[in-house]
Amino acid sequence: MSDQHGILSRMVGVGDMVLLEPLSEENFLENLQKRFKADHIYTYIGSVVVSVNPYKHLSIYGPDKIEEYRGRNMYELPPHIYAVADLAYRSMKNHNRDQCVLITGESGAGKTEASKIIMQYVAAMSSKSQEVTKIKQQLLQSNPVLEAFGNAKTVRNDNSSRFGKYMDIEFDFKGDPIGGIITNYLLEKSRVVSQSPGERNFHVFYQLLNGPEHVLNKLKLSKNEKYSFLTESEVSSSIDDAGNFRDVLTAFNVIGFGTEEVDHILQAVAAVLKLGNVKFKAKSAKNGMEGCSVEDMKEIEDVCALLGMDAEKFATSLTQRVMTARQEKVTCTLSASEAAYARDALCKAIYSRLFSWLVKRINSSIQSQAKTKRKVMGVLDIYGFEVFENNSFEQFIINYCNEKLQQIFIELTLKEEQEEYVQEGIEWIHIDYFDNEIICKLIEEPHTGILSMLDEECLRPGDATDATFLKKLHDNCGTHSRFESRFNPEFLSDKSLPHDSYRITHYAGKVTYRVDGFLDKNNDSLYRNLSVSMYGSSHTILGGDAGLFLEGGPTSDNMKRPPTTATQFKSSIAELMKNLHSKNPNYIRCIKPNAVKRSGIITQDLVQHQVRYLGLMENVRVKRAGYAFRQKYEDCLERYKMLSKTTWPNWHGVPKKGVAEILKARDIPDKEYAFGHTKIFIINPKTLFSLEDARQDSLHDLATIIQRIWRGYVQRQRFLTMKRAAIMISKNVRSYLASKKYKMLRVATIVMQSYIRGWKARCILRAHKELKRRIFAVTVIAAHWRGCADRKKYRRYFRANAGGVIARFMEKLHLYLYLTKVRDNAPSKSPIDKVWPKCRYPCLEETHRQLEAVHHRWRCMVYRKSISKERQGQLEEKLEASELFKGKKSLYWISLPAMFKGDYISIQRQEKWAKVAAATDDKTIIFADEGFKINRADGKAVSSTVVVSDKAMLLLQPETYKVKYRLPLSDIKGLSYSPYADGMTLIHITPPTGGPAAKTYKGDVMLNVAHSIECGTRLYRKIKQTTGKEIPMKIAKGSTLASKGGDCTVEFSESASEDVVSPVIKKVKKTFAVSVPKKQVPNGATPQQNGETAAA
Ligand SMILES: Nc1ncnc2c1ncn2[C@@H]1O[C@H](COP(=O)(O)OP(=O)(O)OP(=O)(O)O)[C@@H](O)[C@H]1O
Ligand SMILES: [Mg+2]
Repeated sequence: MSDQHGILSRMVGVGDMVLLEPLSEENFLENLQKRFKADHIYTYIGSVVVSVNPYKHLSIYGPDKIEEYRGRNMYELPPHIYAVADLAYRSMKNHNRDQCVLITGESGAGKTEASKIIMQYVAAMSSKSQEVTKIKQQLLQSNPVLEAFGNAKTVRNDNSSRFGKYMDIEFDFKGDPIGGIITNYLLEKSRVVSQSPGERNFHVFYQLLNGPEHVLNKLKLSKNEKYSFLTESEVSSSIDDAGNFRDVLTAFNVIGFGTEEVDHILQAVAAVLKLGNVKFKAKSAKNGMEGCSVEDMKEIEDVCALLGMDAEKFATSLTQRVMTARQEKVTCTLSASEAAYARDALCKAIYSRLFSWLVKRINSSIQSQAKTKRKVMGVLDIYGFEVFENNSFEQFIINYCNEKLQQIFIELTLKEEQEEYVQEGIEWIHIDYFDNEIICKLIEEPHTGILSMLDEECLRPGDATDATFLKKLHDNCGTHSRFESRFNPEFLSDKSLPHDSYRITHYAGKVTYRVDGFLDKNNDSLYRNLSVSMYGSSHTILGGDAGLFLEGGPTSDNMKRPPTTATQFKSSIAELMKNLHSKNPNYIRCIKPNAVKRSGIITQDLVQHQVRYLGLMENVRVKRAGYAFRQKYEDCLERYKMLSKTTWPNWHGVPKKGVAEILKARDIPDKEYAFGHTKIFIINPKTLFSLEDARQDSLHDLATIIQRIWRGYVQRQRFLTMKRAAIMISKNVRSYLASKKYKMLRVATIVMQSYIRGWKARCILRAHKELKRRIFAVTVIAAHWRGCADRKKYRRYFRANAGGVIARFMEKLHLYLYLTKVRDNAPSKSPIDKVWPKCRYPCLEETHRQLEAVHHRWRCMVYRKSISKERQGQLEEKLEASELFKGKKSLYWISLPAMFKGDYISIQRQEKWAKVAAATDDKTIIFADEGFKINRADGKAVSSTVVVSDKAMLLLQPETYKVKYRLPLSDIKGLSYSPYADGMTLIHITPPTGGPAAKTYKGDVMLNVAHSIECGTRLYRKIKQTTGKEIPMKIAKGSTLASKGGDCTVEFSESASEDVVSPVIKKVKKTFAVSVPKKQVPNGATPQQNGETAAA
């Protein structure tokens, strides 16, 4: 056979059996063998993958390979499971069809491995988001857990699945996995208590025993102990149990099992192991019946400690049986073998229920919570067809399951396909194949099928045994071509068929089943007292109302009898078939190359046998003669309508013609396809792929068009929005401007209106005023005219000069009234009384003022005349003082109230003074007071008595009145004062031009005298009187003090502090700085009184 066919030329042998030339079984097997030897373990039959187990690791898996196969057509690359997985995944994503991958083959053919490869591919396909990765991890990690608890080593396979598994992986619309649901089918639980030679119990037992020491101690297990449920020789097998156990624990963690939960699971497993070691010893019971007791209570105690039960009670429930007969409870003892049987039943129950619980628990973790629409890809990995030396109920069930899968395969690939060609009117030569429906019927037919008879035998009253069941089988199926038993005379002498067995010729070969245990296994019942014990356990998974032994609960007496195992299995398989029928199938046909589980060996006979029973040759034949692809015209038209201009976007004619248009447009030769009644059939997958490729290209073009239109639409929408916005903006702007203009116009209008109205109003007002004036003028004129007229009229009645008389009389009258009024309201005689009555006669206003002045002068004269000469003199002095100081020196107002006294120290009465006066001839004193003389040299104030006589001014030593200085009045040339309320007096002296006076002359004198106003006034008056000169009086802030040593400056200032009571004099060089007190309150006079007195 040559490597031919272009695209497949790189391959060893022929990659697709459909292309095998010539097609014969021999060639088929040779091709398989050739490819297998070259490690090409996958070969296609159309889209079906035939996989030959290599029993060794091949480097054809992994992320790189997955990437290679991603999105590629099947024939572009060498055959691979990835291609099928990709086809299924893409078909699910693109065609929105639920998919299922059916993996079939006998035990050890590689189904489980294939299912894992599919899952890996699907996981790698989808997105890498955190959430999706978590779900994918959980889905993938469910495998190690389920394999540990559900797989075991058999003579056919070191990792044989001892349960059926169908896993639905759910995807969202993007093709990302969102969860999964696992359905499990009947676990081969008999393996828990016994295994055939060379086989092992479930992996988990060995894994647990190879686990860490602390775990074992906690579970009361020991590596060195012998466990009767485990085949001795297999405890230390080549399988890496310790490593696998670690993987299982990790997987538990990834799926979401809590540590406590895992502990409880392991406790249950350990309890099963320990229970296996419970031995019973026979003893006779009290009633003479055979009984038994537990040999070593230690094991029971350990089990009870693990499961939370009472050891004594549990031991009793293992060795006794409580039965209800006529509503009475009867307890009967069990023989040692019966007790061992009950113990095994319990172990099987615990383990199988734990397994189902595990599946449920995993489902609760991986099941999608999303309520969105989802697509599903199912992967079926069921236990393969198997023939052992000793085949029991489990093998029967397993093989029945495989029959059903073979049936579905035949139906979908051989039967329906051929029937379809006929129905569709396609020219077709029928290809024969073996239809296993006859076998399926033999097993499952209601009433007559083997399973129905088994159920009947289990349920019927009376003594039903496995033997009676076998007899019944013979009675009903004895004549069936596929059923054989020793009851049949034909096989009476067939030594290969034992008496307690029947044989069925399955699609994959003959299998002899021993009926021993069939009824029990089908009944699957547990002694009630054991269920009650388990129900009472405090173990969270097993015991209680949420546990796995609900039939042991108090309310379970009325519970309906559970359906038998056969019934359950039959209905679950029927359900599975229905499910598979509803999905698009993808097939992987696994072939086992040899029986020794070794790589590189391919046993021709074994492979040939499998090729035959799997119907692969028929499959190839149908594929070769048939069509690779068929589809309803409507669907085909819908999918490929974009490939022809006439069908795009809509075809309004008959769909068939539309499809023809498409094929014509793609230039597909007529021989490549055929028209059925309702479907189009395409021979070569390449044609289909070319259509698909063209569709993809068109989709790109369409996407571009859609994008273009969409972008156009979006831009147009944007443009329209912008246009609307522009209109809106311009509308608003215009409205704003118009309203602004309108407001301005309105204001202008109002202004104009107001001007016009004002102007009009003023015109009217003017007119009115004019009218009023005219009316007034008219009235006046009229009055005058009337008056004139009246006067003219009445003149002759009056004397001619009456007016003048009356006027003079009126004048006098008014004058009289005025004067009497003035007289009556005349003010007091006090010259300071300002009150003067008001004048009511405007014509007498001037007279009234003059009268007021005359009156004032008169009362002043009266006042003057009333005062004495002395007082007159005093007032004259005061008047003089006022002229000199008023308004110039603050002290004036203080001195004003008191009259000048002159001699303040009563010096004239002093004898000492009389002597001085006699000596100086200063007898008439005009002023005497204590004071201070200020030293010209240092500004120091020296107490001194100041005396002014009518001739001179004297400075006397106080008390002694010794004359210290005498200044003739004629020598005084001026006086200086500060403007403040102080008593500082500077006396400027005309320097003597010679004589003795010149010798004693020192300069001007500076005094501080309390009554400086009086002193100054009297000095001034006296000098004026005696010399006729008016000496200058200087009142200023600064003055000059003549001194012999040179003139000095005197600067007066008012002290800022209120506390200063006397002048402070400081001499700095030639300047006397005199700081005077702020105020002086003399004789308790108030400023107001001052005012009044001043006014007077
Ligand atoms: N593709 C493969 N590559 C390498 N080894 C494989 C492959 N397929 C199967 N094997 C080997 O064959 C063994 C048996 O395969 P697998 O467990 O898948 O068989 P099975 O068909 O599931 O059998 P059963 O029906 O008993 O469960 C695997 O443990 C593995 O060692
Ligand atoms: Mg398997």
